[in-house]
Amino acid sequence: DAMSNTSTPVFPSATTMDILFSREQIAERVAAIGAQISTDYAGQSVVLIGVLKGAAIFLADLARAITVDNTFDFVAVSSYGRARVSSGAVKLIKDIDNPIEGKHVILVEDILDTGLTLSYLRGLMLQHKPASLKIATCLDKPERRLVPIEADYTAFSIPNRFVIGYGMDYAEVYRNLADIRLFPEEVAGH
Ligand code: XMP
Ligand code: MG
Repeated sequence: DAMSNTSTPVFPSATTMDILFSREQIAERVAAIGAQISTDYAGQSVVLIGVLKGAAIFLADLARAITVDNTFDFVAVSSYGRARVSSGAVKLIKDIDNPIEGKHVILVEDILDTGLTLSYLRGLMLQHKPASLKIATCLDKPERRLVPIEADYTAFSIPNRFVIGYGMDYAEVYRNLADIRLFPEEVAGH
């Protein structure tokens, strides 16, 4: 009937989901990464390039935790197939606004999963001839890697579980949550 539509996603209340990392735990790791980056780039300036939309919140916090001069920009990519899973084909939807030639660049991602997105973006950014290029990710799912790529700065490594919050979504919902939570497998796997 009209009330049951199998293609309509279910959005359980976030309060029913277990917290994987609390806002305090996230803040502690972001502060540590910000301090590390500030040491590594002492006396220099850095351009943070966030991958929309998932990395927006991590980037906002990270940019403020870095004490060396920094500016930021964003790129957006789409992967074909189901939105939740990277299918392998990555397409650039939005490019950087400002040139990065000769600059120290850090790509900022929410999750390093199969590695396909960051491999693609790294190749693309290297064509712009930055002085250096590193990767910062909030989460890493090393088990899921399909191509060899590692982050230079990682807040947390996690097992192969679907997570939401702190910029990460399920069908665009839950990005605004301050904690990172485990999304129920029975809903994620439908
Ligand atoms: P790769 O290309 O490394 O893609 O496979 C990483 C992208 O996959 C998305 N992703 C997730 N998004 N919860 C999410 O909200 C998750 O558990 C998750 N695992 C992967 C994410 O968009 C990331 O940028
Ligand atoms: Mg993403």
